[in-house]
Amino acid sequence: MIRINENYLKLQASYLFSDIARRVAAFQRENPGREIIRLGIGDVTRALPPTCIKAFHQAVDEMADDRTFRGYGPEQGYLFLREKIAAEDFQARGADISPDEIFISDGAKCDTGNIQEIFAIDIEIAIPDPVYPVYLDTNVMAGRTGKYKDGRYDKIRYLEGTWENGFVPDLPEEPVDLIYLCFPNNPTGATITRDRLRSWVEYARENRALILYDAAYEAFIRDDALPRSVYEIEGAREVALEFRSFSKTAGFTGTRCAYTVVPRTCEAYDRNGQKHSLHALWNRRHSTKFNGVSYPVQKAAEAVYSKEGKAQVKELIDYYLRNAALIRKEMCSLGFQCLGGENSPYIWVDGRMDSWRFFDRLLEKAGVVCTPGSGFGKCGQGFIRISAFNSFENVQKAMAGIKMALAE
Ligand code: MLT
Repeated sequence: MIRINENYLKLQASYLFSDIARRVAAFQRENPGREIIRLGIGDVTRALPPTCIKAFHQAVDEMADDRTFRGYGPEQGYLFLREKIAAEDFQARGADISPDEIFISDGAKCDTGNIQEIFAIDIEIAIPDPVYPVYLDTNVMAGRTGKYKDGRYDKIRYLEGTWENGFVPDLPEEPVDLIYLCFPNNPTGATITRDRLRSWVEYARENRALILYDAAYEAFIRDDALPRSVYEIEGAREVALEFRSFSKTAGFTGTRCAYTVVPRTCEAYDRNGQKHSLHALWNRRHSTKFNGVSYPVQKAAEAVYSKEGKAQVKELIDYYLRNAALIRKEMCSLGFQCLGGENSPYIWVDGRMDSWRFFDRLLEKAGVVCTPGSGFGKCGQGFIRISAFNSFENVQKAMAGIKMALAE
């Protein structure tokens, strides 16, 4: 008799964004012809930067000729891309990261979901609330949690985000082993100061813990005082891994390219207290289960670091930040307390009512799709997340619709 992994039975019925897509599809079936503006899932809407497209085309042409064709690439990614990343994203900001500490992959979602495989089942995990659901669900699947009750899984140390702490979680009172942090934050749009991040790095060093730092939205940081990488903090090389993505930076959500930084100086322990290199473990896992990102996609990603690429990416992000500023301004002017939308594509809105109720109200009355905050955890109840990924015209239309709907 074939048996299932019963940890899957502990999961909530479906993944948050699938749930929303189903509700929106049902609404569309019932209201054919009604215009819907999607400010829910953070999916980019603008074309890839022209310089990425050019590099992409050239690489496809290389694949069309036996003399330049390439089969399997290195599982860790081509050196041409890893060298650019190390130099531009880290060394240029004083962060000591070398190309061989970078693992190219097809997404930060996959990497933040898969990384837990290399850790023991019985470790103490600290996960923010609200949180990007992937961190939590993958630990549930692995069996690190107990049952789900009253909006929480047993055995998880939740780091609560509130207005009081600005949705930047406080340090745990008791020692934990693995800590998930994401800044600029999904879903709240909160950012972390250098001092706060330093306190987390110090905590990890004191407690022999490890920080998993998701910086997928780093490109939205415009405030120079904010850290863009955990490795800008002294001592982080021993206690933190970092996840980055080209998805939101350069419009690669459908093209797929991301990377994970695993410094050679990061170590974890076996049951006898013996140290092991996380780089070696992740390399073993990655080369066993992953065959690399396609050559044309890596060439397209490399183009992000060219002079034109940098300018085009900046223009792309500026465009979404303009949307974000408009959403924030309009929601604040309607009397809602908002976070994010500055240095972040997400605006976290205190709706002062049940999150799904607010979601339904915006969908039915304004034809606008947002994301209910309660889908990100108990502390998200009462909030909604509005994403800035759409055209400026659609965002204007959505805001006008919301204003009218809420006036009714
Ligand atoms: C989101 O809307 O939270 C993101 O698009 C999800 C993701 O990047 O996987």
